[in-house]
Amino acid sequence: MEFLLARKAKEPLLPHIINETCELYQTKVSIGYTRTCTCKPNHINCLIPKEWLKSQIGVWQFYYEGRDIRNKEVHPATFPISLATKVISLFTHEGELVLDPFVGSGTTLLASQDLNRNAIGFDLQDEYVKLCAERLTKNNLFNKAQQIAIQDDARNIDKYIESETISLIWTSPPYANLLNRERKNKSRRNRDNGQLGKIEQYSQDTRDLGIMPLQEYTISMGDIFERLLTLLKPKGHCVINVPDMWWENERITIHISLVEELRRRGYELRNIIIWDRTNIVNRIGIFGWPSNYITMGTTFEYLLDFWKPSLPKL
Ligand SMILES: C[S@@+](CC[C@H](N)C(=O)[O-])C[C@H]1O[C@@H](n2cnc3c(N)ncnc32)[C@H](O)[C@@H]1O
Repeated sequence: MEFLLARKAKEPLLPHIINETCELYQTKVSIGYTRTCTCKPNHINCLIPKEWLKSQIGVWQFYYEGRDIRNKEVHPATFPISLATKVISLFTHEGELVLDPFVGSGTTLLASQDLNRNAIGFDLQDEYVKLCAERLTKNNLFNKAQQIAIQDDARNIDKYIESETISLIWTSPPYANLLNRERKNKSRRNRDNGQLGKIEQYSQDTRDLGIMPLQEYTISMGDIFERLLTLLKPKGHCVINVPDMWWENERITIHISLVEELRRRGYELRNIIIWDRTNIVNRIGIFGWPSNYITMGTTFEYLLDFWKPSLPKL
């Protein structure tokens, strides 16, 4: 009975959620991280050869489904559940632990729940963490793993997670200060969706990576991911989704900055996959015509796939 009461006091106040008001705030989370499948030890995932074959192509496309959040008022930058499903299926086994340091509306947690993976997601914003919890309670009743959303700065993740327990870090971080400006794209000009002239940023919190210019952003990402490297199992993958952007007619190469910074911090780049978004992009315009050729940033994004080398890089 005493044991039960002690455990009860340590349970999160709401299922799936830890925030500043919770006793578990900034303490180690008790969560599974070992395989529950019967795959051979040298397999990196539970896929059969036919499913593996489909992933050999380096350009991926996805569709949204009914559970996806596409309303920018709810969250300005979500990725499809099907994209998270593919990445998690490729780089983990059932029962293993997935981390999303910038979890937003909780897409990674939902996909993990579908796939029977344990998962922890972090976000600075309490409203997004509550949204994650809400989405998780509506989802899969047959889920045997645990998914938790935590409201905290990604810089504090090592306070919650034991070292070398994570099999996959999968995330879409803020894209430097891409969203922190008024929407003035021509493609939005004729649309009656209220987006023109709006700033779609998550917050103006000084810890929010989405208000930082590229150089400061890159160093902050490096600091966060260097700490995460100790939590990742050797040969565990870390997949980061980012686009580049155009600003004042200059290409801002976020993906190059991140590749260079994460290499400096001890990660090894394995693959660059292109997420082809032409099937879901809203409308394309004649940007730059007739004198200045620029491709539309919204038509594709990068999936940067790193891993933790089994021996540290010298
Ligand atoms: C691109 S969104 C992630 C969206 C997510 N993939 C989804 O499908 O909903 C990036 C998130 O990072 C969060 N964020 C920004 N700076 C942060 C920080 N320092 N620590 C934790 N989260 C942060 C923002 O609040 C935002 O929700």
